[in-house]
Amino acid sequence: MKKTLIVFDTVSGSTREMAEIIRDEMENISVSIKPVDKVESIDGYDTVIIGSPIRFGGFTAKIKKFIKKNRDELASKKIILYFSSLYIVKLKEEEKPAATFYIDPTLNIQTLSRKEATSMDKTHSIGCYYKAILKQTSGLVPDTIAYFNGRLDLQKLNIFFRLFMKIVVSLTTKERVGEFLNRDSVKEGAAVLRQRLR
Ligand SMILES: Cc1cc2nc3c(=O)[nH]c(=O)nc-3n(C[C@H](O)[C@H](O)[C@H](O)COP(=O)(O)O)c2cc1C
Repeated sequence: MKKTLIVFDTVSGSTREMAEIIRDEMENISVSIKPVDKVESIDGYDTVIIGSPIRFGGFTAKIKKFIKKNRDELASKKIILYFSSLYIVKLKEEEKPAATFYIDPTLNIQTLSRKEATSMDKTHSIGCYYKAILKQTSGLVPDTIAYFNGRLDLQKLNIFFRLFMKIVVSLTTKERVGEFLNRDSVKEGAAVLRQRLR
């Protein structure tokens, strides 16, 4: 039987909960789940699902370190990514990346032209996020990418990120403090990921 590993990082817990929901939806598939700092080796896994809270469009520092360390081995495996996020838009002019996508319907993704888009929209677009992924994986091409609605709990952030996010939420209503994880959306996304493991 093919083996799958789910590796995740989390700060306020949502990315871990998503990993657990995804694992529970993978009937008849052998899935192990590990926090990123507990992964010693990815040997023997056919697929690696990497979950990260989204940070400035990309991965957390721990996930970047994990990818860098395992870059060559990851290149021979199927890579699936999922992000716990708060805001994503689609720009009309952007080319669709060559990956299968699942975008949580509760993220209410809007399609905007570049003209209509604010600078925040431009740094939170599918294309901009995809560029960050390619840069931070040194060009690994993920098979599938899922964006799920997460949560923003300022108390769980370190002082710098708390200050930064306090400023962000005071300047825009696009990212807000609160709980947005939707278990049904994660289950629906997990069904898409399950298809990709066959
Ligand atoms: C410094 C910082 C940058 C962030 N950047 C983004 C971003 O680019 N796009 C987004 O949708 N959410 C962004 N977020 C929101 C987090 O990704 C969100 O809170 C996530 O659901 C937390 O996951 P966790 O509960 O697993 O820690 C950012 C949060 C912080 C603290």
